[in-house]
Amino acid sequence: MSGEKKRLFIRTYGCQMNVYDSGRMTDVLAPFGYAPTDQPEGADMVVINTCHIREKASEKVFSELGRLRVLKEERRADGKDMILAVAGCVAQAEGEFILQRAPFVDIVLGPQTYHKLPEMVARAERAAASKTGRKTGVGILDTDFPLEPKFDHLPEPVAHGSAAFLSVQEGCDKFCTFCVVPYTRGAEYSRPVDDVLKEARLLVGQGVRELTLLGQNVNAYHGTSADGRELGLGDLCRELATINGLERIRYTTSHPRDLDDALISAHAELPQLMPFLHLPVQSGSDRILKAMNRGHTAADYIAKIERLRQANPDLALSSDFIVGFPGETDADFDATMALVQTVGFVQAYSFKYSPRPGTPAATMEQQVPENVKSARLSALQALLSAQQDAFNQSCIGRDLRVLLDRTGRHDGQMVGRSPFMQPVHVTAPAELFGQVVTLRIVGATATSLAGELV
Ligand code: 5AD
Ligand code: SF4
Repeated sequence: MSGEKKRLFIRTYGCQMNVYDSGRMTDVLAPFGYAPTDQPEGADMVVINTCHIREKASEKVFSELGRLRVLKEERRADGKDMILAVAGCVAQAEGEFILQRAPFVDIVLGPQTYHKLPEMVARAERAAASKTGRKTGVGILDTDFPLEPKFDHLPEPVAHGSAAFLSVQEGCDKFCTFCVVPYTRGAEYSRPVDDVLKEARLLVGQGVRELTLLGQNVNAYHGTSADGRELGLGDLCRELATINGLERIRYTTSHPRDLDDALISAHAELPQLMPFLHLPVQSGSDRILKAMNRGHTAADYIAKIERLRQANPDLALSSDFIVGFPGETDADFDATMALVQTVGFVQAYSFKYSPRPGTPAATMEQQVPENVKSARLSALQALLSAQQDAFNQSCIGRDLRVLLDRTGRHDGQMVGRSPFMQPVHVTAPAELFGQVVTLRIVGATATSLAGELV
């Protein structure tokens, strides 16, 4: 451990899991004198936490590394150093290749090994000290999937605000044919129930009021409790709901196939479980769902939504969509539009299919031309935006419980989240910061609400 303060800059791409991982990397490095900074200039260590899920991920990483190389060389010219690390899913997928193509990189680590970061950093610091004027990086690579889970080696979490993420599950065994996650994040793993409860209690003790349980496939959660029972996500939520002071529970991202009865009934029973669910469907065409290896039909999805709405009539839905999957015809795309009409989403993410090397869909025939993908994406996004806008408008006049967890741009302004994840702007006294308050909704835009204290 070292007494002097060193500056750590982490750039995070991709999903909430990466946001969580970046937070944990900050926590692991804190005892070694690294404090977060918000720019790479002047940093003693820079981590880029990468995402591989869509688009030209590795090209983006290499162009960012090119920029960082310049900073690193400038610092060397000043007699200092900058440890450069690449983390996350691109690191996992391209490990050795990154060190070859960007030899000035010091550390490449996958999502399963960041608990070993202090050890890698110590090696990098020693190597830097012994080799002044070196041009190349230290070249440490660790992209293993260790048998011992990293969670056992992480320090206690530090809350930053009243809403926090808690990782309960990682990896995925579903092998949707378009997706890299099973290759980059590895097989499904659930943390033991007691570890999750302990982390939750620590966070709530630090003022956290809302927990979002994270997992690539969070509702496949199946953790063992201290008394040997196996709990699914619904039962885990029931346990969490007994923690005093924890007012809100969310979870993301779910797979329709793993949405079981116990989880559906938790939505009826637990007032803490927020009435908002991100449940990716990807397509409304059974033919495409089959080619995607999703393991459900459009009717299966709609039936689950109906049951969820019976459990909690207030439930609002969000989803992910892919347009232009190989072989998608106009009729298939129309089926997606029809599903959107039937379900009604309050928020959604939609993407053009992008072939990921190594996944089955990348080499399928009948790849859809770019202009067709673009036209379908615009049509789908117009429909989804209209639904979101209509939902936001329908909130005007309602009283909603809002967790005020951010300060706004203007004096006295705060921003919070409604139960349905809409950002709500309000002017409120400072002592309400971090609390859940009731707001009357008085205005709505396409993406946010305005509220007043009642
Ligand atoms: N092309 C386009 N979108 C993708 N997604 C995952 N892989 C791909 C891909 N190859 C989308 C899915 C998923 C979300 C996180 O990213 O919709 O649910
Ligand atoms: Fe990827 Fe499918 Fe697993 Fe989601 S369920 S992470 S889309 S393979």
